Amino acid sequence: MKKFKVVFQPEGKKVSALPGITIAALAAENGVRLEVPCGAVGKCGKCRVEVSKGEGVVPPDAEETALLSKEELAKGIRLACRTKISGDAVISIPRTSRLQTQKILDIGIQTEVKLAPAVKKIFFKELPKGSSNELLNNTGVYSTVDNELLTVEKGDTTSILYGMAFDVGTTTVVGTLVDLKTGIVAATAADMNPQVVYGDDVISRLNFCIENKNGLAELNKKVVDVINKLIREACEEAGIMPESIYDIILCGNTTMEHLLLKADPKPLATYPFVSMLNQSMNKKRVPEAGININQKSYVRVFPVIGGWVGGDTLGVILATNLYKTAHMKLAIDIGTNGEVVLGNKDRLVAASCAAGPAFEGAHIRSGMRASKGAIEKIDLIDDKIICQTIENASPVGFCGSGLIDAMALLVENGIVEDTGRIKDKSELPANLPAEIKEKLIEHENG
Ligand code: FES
Repeated sequence: MKKFKVVFQPEGKKVSALPGITIAALAAENGVRLEVPCGAVGKCGKCRVEVSKGEGVVPPDAEETALLSKEELAKGIRLACRTKISGDAVISIPRTSRLQTQKILDIGIQTEVKLAPAVKKIFFKELPKGSSNELLNNTGVYSTVDNELLTVEKGDTTSILYGMAFDVGTTTVVGTLVDLKTGIVAATAADMNPQVVYGDDVISRLNFCIENKNGLAELNKKVVDVINKLIREACEEAGIMPESIYDIILCGNTTMEHLLLKADPKPLATYPFVSMLNQSMNKKRVPEAGININQKSYVRVFPVIGGWVGGDTLGVILATNLYKTAHMKLAIDIGTNGEVVLGNKDRLVAASCAAGPAFEGAHIRSGMRASKGAIEKIDLIDDKIICQTIENASPVGFCGSGLIDAMALLVENGIVEDTGRIKDKSELPANLPAEIKEKLIEHENG
């Protein structure tokens, strides 16, 4: 079949394209990373690219004409996920449409916990009664959770015992390497969840699994690959071998845990949103899970609480000691999938909702993820608006923390009411700082 020549600008990357492939798919195939927040279904309008002279592509479809203005279309601006290649083309990808590396929070407040690792080692100078001979002068590695001898190692290896905990988020993955003898954190590693190329939110990922025969396997491979990469990085930083890790525990929202354990996530997509994970599926042998640590170990995930309230919420409850408190408290986990837990030592109730796409700008014209150039902080100092951007780069859009700051500023200055209602111009306070006043725009709808 005839192939066309396509050049991605500004890097000048030349690739060949089959007729009918979308620009987004062609870019992904060739390692050109594009933002596809809605999962490439033509709903968010965030994958704008510029097709030189509008040549080499099919005419815009209904989704494109709905999301792009006439002026944009006249300039050759198109949606990469909708536009199909029909000839040789030169395509420029603006910075706003490129998938940027996100700023990841990988530190937190540590609560004191009693050290009780799920794995222990015992060196046998003498054989306990009834034990097998192979243990003599060797080290037995035991799972304290399953009361099981995992393996026997030659000689005394009791000085080497590490575990790793992962927070597998929809957008980011963070791993913490812990010395299980001391409880000391030996290293931390973080990266973006590479599944973002299939869409920013869990619904896009579920849809990908439903619509593609190998969707689950593909998404599972992506997350397993990044976990293995982070294991390597953490081990390098700590100066240990991945085989020295004998325990790995992961938590994520319900969808992430399904994708991680290759459990069918389809029932999650429809009412009554049932999780396929149960007690027996919450752990896997390491080789079966494809994780590169000591191959005699188990991979375990935090149990899903119910429906869309996943194991990560259990992590929140444990980390905040919410289950011990006498007073009524509320914990809010604002991730791409958001959860709230309310309660005390007597009772806890939880709920979840899709929060992240809003904070990552999927449906906000100037919204973006927390990457270079995102406004992450806004202050009003001496009546002057001060914006801080990630890496001090020139501003490109607002990330979640910037949006929250912007909203706080609007509420504090009486432009937006506590209810979220935006006031009319006639209702605005008379003492509004001039710098804010001149930035207010009135549209035909107010
Ligand atoms: S419109 Fe193309 S990724 Fe959303």
